[in-house]
Amino acid sequence: MALHLVDHPLIRHKVGILRKHDISTSRFRQLANEITRLLTYEATKDFETETTTIQGWAGDVEVDTIKGKKVTVVPILRAGLGMMDGVFDMIPGAKASVVGFYRDEETLKPVQYYVKLASAMDERTALILDPMLATGGTLEATIELLKESGCTSIRGLFLCAAPEGIDRILKKHPDVDIYVAAVDEKLNDIGYIIPGLGDAGDKIFGTK
Ligand code: URA
Repeated sequence: MALHLVDHPLIRHKVGILRKHDISTSRFRQLANEITRLLTYEATKDFETETTTIQGWAGDVEVDTIKGKKVTVVPILRAGLGMMDGVFDMIPGAKASVVGFYRDEETLKPVQYYVKLASAMDERTALILDPMLATGGTLEATIELLKESGCTSIRGLFLCAAPEGIDRILKKHPDVDIYVAAVDEKLNDIGYIIPGLGDAGDKIFGTK
């Protein structure tokens, strides 16, 4: 895996606002999608293009189009849904593959409770979406699910990541690329990222 810390003044500024304790639901949602647009821009930088000729206003003109790439976003329920529009703004034709996991209280392992994947996963680049990369347990389960479906091009987009989660995915899935807006200090003893953003799902959905 390659870790891509997308270090840009706009991203640092927006992540700073996300960290405010009293941020409103609407502002958090708006910023999550704005940052996701910028992460999508970086995560698709290596997509190949091909030249075609179209009729322009002054006659024929050569233009670039993205070459044969099919994309599926993979929001992890529920917080990942809060980043989906950011990708759709950039890639309107992307399909959505939705996955959901809960944590087994005894084994502490993620258990799948919902999955609906797009067709032809073996031909697609998957962009996994989750605001927080914390322990990496759910991400690992999602990557395994995608690989079982035949997907060979997997990238993950996160607003905020902990070193523990990054290390785990680095070791287990070196072929997966991770794009993050911020790498924070650590996890606390209940698995929250410090300093982090708090509970990103609650902030996006306005629940508590
Ligand atoms: N999920 C969250 O929403 N926040 C964290 O800090 C960790 C996991």
